[in-house]
Amino acid sequence: MPHILAIDQGTTSSRAILFDAAMQVVAVAQEEVPQHYPASGWVEHDPEDLWSTALRSAREVIARAGAPEIAAIGITNQRETVLVWDRATGAPIHRAIVWQDRRTAGLCAELREAGHEPDITYRTGLLLDPYFSGSKLAWLLDNVEGARARAERGELLFGTVDSFLIWKLTGGRVHATDATNAARTLIYNIREGRWDADICALLRIPLAMLPEVKDCAAEFGMTEPGLFGCQIPILGVAGDQQAATLGQACFAPGMLKATYGTGCFALLNTGAELVQSRSRLLGTIAYQLDGVTTYALEGSIFIAGAAVQWLRDGLGVIGSAGEAQALAEAADPAQDVVLVPAFTGLGAPWWNAECRGAVYGLTRNSGPAELARAGLESVGYQTRDLLQAMQADWRRDEAALRVDGGMAASDWAMQFLADILGASVDRPRLTETTALGAAWLAGMRAGIYPGPEGFAEEWARERQFMPQMDPALREARHARWQRAVAATLAV
Ligand code: G3P
Repeated sequence: MPHILAIDQGTTSSRAILFDAAMQVVAVAQEEVPQHYPASGWVEHDPEDLWSTALRSAREVIARAGAPEIAAIGITNQRETVLVWDRATGAPIHRAIVWQDRRTAGLCAELREAGHEPDITYRTGLLLDPYFSGSKLAWLLDNVEGARARAERGELLFGTVDSFLIWKLTGGRVHATDATNAARTLIYNIREGRWDADICALLRIPLAMLPEVKDCAAEFGMTEPGLFGCQIPILGVAGDQQAATLGQACFAPGMLKATYGTGCFALLNTGAELVQSRSRLLGTIAYQLDGVTTYALEGSIFIAGAAVQWLRDGLGVIGSAGEAQALAEAADPAQDVVLVPAFTGLGAPWWNAECRGAVYGLTRNSGPAELARAGLESVGYQTRDLLQAMQADWRRDEAALRVDGGMAASDWAMQFLADILGASVDRPRLTETTALGAAWLAGMRAGIYPGPEGFAEEWARERQFMPQMDPALREARHARWQRAVAATLAV
């Protein structure tokens, strides 16, 4: 029976998940990725770690399943992270600069002040923020000795993590990426579907170093025979948030998902229309199949599950993330403690990199339980802000929000989310949505899995959370949260 191998190279770990012909999970393997923080606000990964953890996870999952027949590989990945390597030797010229890295804030501010942001946003859907790849790639070319000259001579290649893994898996024969990953670079024109020569010129990025951009389900090359004992075609690639959108079967305009990991990323399918946000959301590519681009509006929150990590590692009030829910349930209902988790600034729709977190409403009776509740509630409040911004941009009916990622497992957090949104929240039966999205792309291309309609029919809900909070209370609590955010931004 043919299987599909999904490789999910994320910010904190590399994972490999094996799916059978019925799209069920057969085995999972995972390895942590070491993080490097060489300076304040800088975040790097060793390219060798990205590759070796992904390869070991893939090999382990294959071994655990008893060396099954694998029809295809699908790749999904942390987006925006930048790698540059030597075309001839494959040697990286520097550690990967991770999407969270803020070292190019100055360059982005300069370009903004020079008036470039409206045009760049029009072409790419993105903002002039260090989050995206373009300014990071420019930084590497400016700061690694001789890099720009080598890049101009065609000796260096640029790629996001998917591109680097494809290069390694194919033994350096394929230099490619997919449209969703290209859409996060700040140098890809998502209206015209090509690298943008003008933006590349502005950032002095030689076009010769850029990968070929393909559909999400396409031929990305065969793996080196030595890696898995046989050659396996790579047939699917998508950035992780886009893969989760696919895994949640959000194929129709108006469908939306939110993935709760360290941060939270919400994507709304806007179909063939690239919506120009008036609310500081991002326009991006949801997926590209058979040459047809489907767009999305995206909102990114930097701290979601990380608020629970802070309760555990920073405050030490819980022993494991799973304890947050029980603690929140025990909180004093008479108190209304609000946590604004701006630990690294605030993302959409605020985009303020400088502000820092705050707690409001403390009394002498406030303790770990009230802080745990405030931590979980902050995720619900932030999601509402994102969805309200989406509604302002989209102005059409949306489907119920589909949720996935670690925090989606918390019934308490999901009930609060439904309460504060005043809308239903759907949790799927299969929660490995990111890996499933990548596997589906590869499996569909291999002719094993159904097309979008058939796949959408297989999507099944495990539980629906319905709003139960009194509407007046909902609005009062959200208004209090917004005042807390405004105060945090003002400090
Ligand atoms: O845009 C960044 C996002 O792709 C990272 O996702 O799950 O690796 O934290 P994750």
